Amino acid sequence: MKVEGTPYRTIWPAADGGAVEIIDQTRLPHAFVTVRLETVADAARAISDMQVRGAPLIGAAAAYGMALAARADASDAALEGAARALAATRPTAVNLGWALDDMMATLGQHPPERRADAAWRRATEICDDDVAMCSAIGEHGLDILRAAWDEKDRAGRLNVLTHCNAGWLATVDWGTALAPIYKAHDAGIPVHVWVDETRPRNQGASLTAWELKAHGVAHTVIVDNAGGHLMQKGEVDLCITGTDRTAASGDVANKIGTYLKALAAEDNGVPFYVALPSPTIDWTISDGLSDIPIEERDAAEVTRIAGLTDAGEVVDVRLVPEGSAAANHAFDVTPARLVTGLITERGVCEASAEGLAGLFPERK
Ligand code: MRU
Repeated sequence: MKVEGTPYRTIWPAADGGAVEIIDQTRLPHAFVTVRLETVADAARAISDMQVRGAPLIGAAAAYGMALAARADASDAALEGAARALAATRPTAVNLGWALDDMMATLGQHPPERRADAAWRRATEICDDDVAMCSAIGEHGLDILRAAWDEKDRAGRLNVLTHCNAGWLATVDWGTALAPIYKAHDAGIPVHVWVDETRPRNQGASLTAWELKAHGVAHTVIVDNAGGHLMQKGEVDLCITGTDRTAASGDVANKIGTYLKALAAEDNGVPFYVALPSPTIDWTISDGLSDIPIEERDAAEVTRIAGLTDAGEVVDVRLVPEGSAAANHAFDVTPARLVTGLITERGVCEASAEGLAGLFPERK
């Protein structure tokens, strides 16, 4: 996607070949800053500090992290250590483990002296594949948005609610939940997005709003608790979110608060879609509620908040009384029964073991 006219991906090899570059997402929306990652430790830090975040981008960053590791020391022991360090950064997004397994399998096919080049090539392929999958998700989701727009007799605007950031910043390009929205906007459908702010890290207010504004898509940021009210008032035509890990049963783990939106959607007859590339499916898990690990992050993300003052300075302030305890569960699980459909690169399916097996018969 373009940033002030310049095409960007969220991660790319530096022109001098000595590093990987990323957009530092902790600085958005107030500053657009790119950062060089030169070592596997840099890559691990970028993932755990959420300079890069979003399940597909976490996988891509881990793949390049392995490429940086292989450049420094391509021995079996060093690569195993690098994979362990990267795997420990964030537990919920399964794309992380998927990318590390893929990179280790690729590297295992080569002698140490050839591994650095092979790792670089494979990381680039993983990124290109992600872009192709997200673009295909956009096309399949566009069919859903077109049908919803026709069902509305093309009157007014098409209101879509999304939670967190599952846009191009969460992937290598295009996004998952936002890819259909970009394609619908580009096809002339007057789509308007309700953007949940997504406390505590505000990925909606900071990242989704920034992306949609940059692309010229109409949007309104709302507090996380407003979605149910808007659905009762008929102001939401459908919801689309991303997911960090989808169980083989169709249960989806996504940013905390997604489950509440799905409950409100069910109560109000609003379709609730989840968009995902296939590396986000964990085929080893059949019960999302008990088997998906939910990341618990620093309570300071709840007790404090950062923002831009009118004087142009970014400041961090405390929100809660000193001494009050806070808990920070970063994800929740939405049971498959609340999901209208899964939008994948191969098409749309029911959120169920049968639905997923129908699209991915080789995983049966
Ligand atoms: O904690 P984050 O910002 O990494 O969480 C991101 C999300 O929950 C996204 O919705 C999810 O990764 C899907 S991204 C295409």
